[in-house]
Amino acid sequence: MTASKLPLEGRTAFIAGVAGGIGLAVAQTYQQHGYNVVISDVDRAASTGRLRRSTSRARRPSHLNLERFGGVDLVVTNAGMLVLTLALDVGAEEFRRVLNVNLTGAFLAAKVFAGHMRDHRKRGGVIFTASLFGVRGGAENDAYSASKFGIVGLTQCLAADLTPHGICVNCVCPGQFGHTRSADRRSRKPPPRAL
Ligand SMILES: NC(=O)c1ccc[n+]([C@@H]2O[C@H](COP(=O)([O-])OP(=O)(O)OC[C@H]3O[C@@H](n4cnc5c(N)ncnc54)[C@H](O)[C@@H]3O)[C@@H](O)[C@H]2O)c1
Repeated sequence: MTASKLPLEGRTAFIAGVAGGIGLAVAQTYQQHGYNVVISDVDRAASTGRLRRSTSRARRPSHLNLERFGGVDLVVTNAGMLVLTLALDVGAEEFRRVLNVNLTGAFLAAKVFAGHMRDHRKRGGVIFTASLFGVRGGAENDAYSASKFGIVGLTQCLAADLTPHGICVNCVCPGQFGHTRSADRRSRKPPPRAL
């Protein structure tokens, strides 16, 4: 059976971080496969606009309109930010901000939506976006790498907790690619050699 023939019509995915890059591609792909897509992004205008342009009227994405869908079948936490600074030069506030967006935000999304699945005895999935920096550290990436190592740990713990409830938890660890908005924010410094 090809992917396009999988029986996914009518399922609902919550996807965070969809204004561009990986998240936009993921959201478009799930829409193409028949999912209702509920989205979240700090850049609301860009995320909604880009997805609307890429889909039919019947499948327009909605921002956290869960009542309409009665819970979700899949959570994809993809929102992320990157600050490249030498470890000892990172301010505590900046360090916290990266962990809040990349790790705590992902945890809270999983807690809300996978918690709803578990409480309603619904099978489903959670996919976190980590990074190769979540399995190997590198220069000037302390906050980012700490957050992504956290995602890998969170994935393993949640998988142990939720697999018995029929909820599958995974993360992906992409290497560096493309020219994304995160890449734009990699500051004035040259990009790292490898992720
Ligand atoms: N591009 C890469 O090379 C690469 C490599 C490894 C991992 N990643 C990870 O993949 C994910 C997507 O990155 P991307 O490269 O597509 O970059 P991107 O900047 O295009 O995507 C990140 C998205 O998250 C959104 N976002 C930021 N803060 C948010 C918040 N608080 N709440 C909701 N949305 C928020 C941004 O608006 C943006 O749409 C990130 O988690 C990133 O760390 C990217």
